Amino acid sequence: MKIDEINRERIKNLKKEKVFMKLGGGDDRLRAQNIKGKMTVWQRIEYLFDPGTFNEVGGFVELRNAGFGLENNKTAGDGVVTGFGRINGQIVYTAAQDFTVLGGSLGEMHGKKIANIMDLAIQNGAPLVMLNDSVGARIQEGISALSGYGEVFFRNTKASGVIPQISVIMGPCAGGAVYSPGITDFIAMVKSTSNMFITGPEVIKTVTGEEVSKDELGGPDIHMELSGVVSYVGDDDESTLDWVKRLLSYLPSNNLETPPVFDSGDAGVIDEIPQENLVPSKAAKTYDMKQVIESIVDKGSFLELQAGYAKNILIGFARLEGYPVGVIANNPSELAGCLDINAADKGARFVRFCDAFNIPLLTLVDVPGFLPGTDQEYNGIIRHGAKLLYAYSEATVPKMTVILRKAYGGAYICMCSKHLGADFVVAWPGSEIAVMGPKGAANIVFKQEIKSADDPEKKAEECEKAYMENVTNPQYAAAMGYIDDVIEPGETRKTIINHLSALVGKSVEMPKRKHGNIPL
Ligand code: HXC
Repeated sequence: MKIDEINRERIKNLKKEKVFMKLGGGDDRLRAQNIKGKMTVWQRIEYLFDPGTFNEVGGFVELRNAGFGLENNKTAGDGVVTGFGRINGQIVYTAAQDFTVLGGSLGEMHGKKIANIMDLAIQNGAPLVMLNDSVGARIQEGISALSGYGEVFFRNTKASGVIPQISVIMGPCAGGAVYSPGITDFIAMVKSTSNMFITGPEVIKTVTGEEVSKDELGGPDIHMELSGVVSYVGDDDESTLDWVKRLLSYLPSNNLETPPVFDSGDAGVIDEIPQENLVPSKAAKTYDMKQVIESIVDKGSFLELQAGYAKNILIGFARLEGYPVGVIANNPSELAGCLDINAADKGARFVRFCDAFNIPLLTLVDVPGFLPGTDQEYNGIIRHGAKLLYAYSEATVPKMTVILRKAYGGAYICMCSKHLGADFVVAWPGSEIAVMGPKGAANIVFKQEIKSADDPEKKAEECEKAYMENVTNPQYAAAMGYIDDVIEPGETRKTIINHLSALVGKSVEMPKRKHGNIPL
């Protein structure tokens, strides 16, 4: 055979092989994925990346351990597709597990492939999206499988705060495998087809005798509502990947870049309802904080995260004239907007993400205080609440705060007050800023006068009013320089945008240290 003929033959074979390589564990297993309502790994990749932009890396890698029949199960790629492409035009790296190959189990080479793509993502400063669909450690490969996980966890930690990391759980994610997503910045799960747990139902039954189904143990609803592990639950693979694309549109590629600015069209002012009518002045009346957020940020730009968890605080990304911001807001519809353990954890982690990736913070305050009670104290509200104070204090991104109504006590300080380094704090005229609400305060400060009055009820009302006018009034805080301005609700968007445009150049040097010691 002549050289050219050899080349032609090889190219022909290569083409065939590349087509075959995309078949993973074979037609039957691929069909089974679709029957279960799951996309195959290549369908996911093609859906996630901008058309024609994906480049596979390490597609020929195969397992090199033997025993327990593994030698007959060699498949090019070893059950994970790794590579990079563009999403919204931005370079993104991925490791996508293929459940059709040995259940997407992680063996030595599978782990090495993921580690390699993570190294490239870190080196090149691009986000990493992991598509998890795996039975866990490949039992036949023993410690080689465990070493693979260890290498992945190590790199997840190294990448933390350097590149955004997103995990998408699109099937099982069992055992130690959960700790890779657990370290990443955001986790999305797919309804009906995904679950996450450290020990499965069988092990639990053996060890503790407790009987629980996979869904009750680690289904998407559990992780959205109870554990707070996930940021988002999608109805199916497509909608979950759509969410990932949307999330990425707010994020810079790495910690040295600023977030991408997109024209988000119209301003978000809700025309029919003036902002002052969105928030009732009566402190006990509730309202929809999401409407208030939407009335301030660019229309349709609010992407809420962890919507089902610790609903007393809302977090999410939004845009102001196209510029991404992280929004944190108390939610009076849940626990009257009090801060508790879960809300503090949720808020603190989000603030730290935004700070790590140069995303300015917009905090909307309506908080009556920390949730009182033994449950909170015994479970460590001191330790958890401190996280939010810590996260806001260490954040050096632009920090803007709007006090809408109540801002009482330690919770006032905690919600990005000027005392924690906020660059700009404004209050609406109807807000109350004080150690506690006027009723409680009047009952303590004027106890004797109220008790000895002819009409104690009337006297209490007068004292309350006097306290409100002289102490909780935001103009009092403004006169002391503790807030920067008192503005009409309708001026909020414009005021915040003006300040944001001045603050984007903010640069702060903190004292030199290895790292702080946030209370965990
Ligand atoms: C290798 C495995 C495997 C494993 C399943 N398979 N588990 N191969 N190692 N750990 C194979 C099956 O033989 C099957 O091969 C294919 O993967 C799909 O598995 P099924 O059981 O048919 O799938 P399904 O019915 O959907 O059930 C999924 C499942 C179940 C619920 C996840 O497979 C399961 O319970 N597996 C064990 C999970 C587990 O305990 N993993 C280890 C966790 S410990 P064929 O050829 O039929 O397609 C761990 C430690 C990590 O991960 C520690 C890191 C620190």
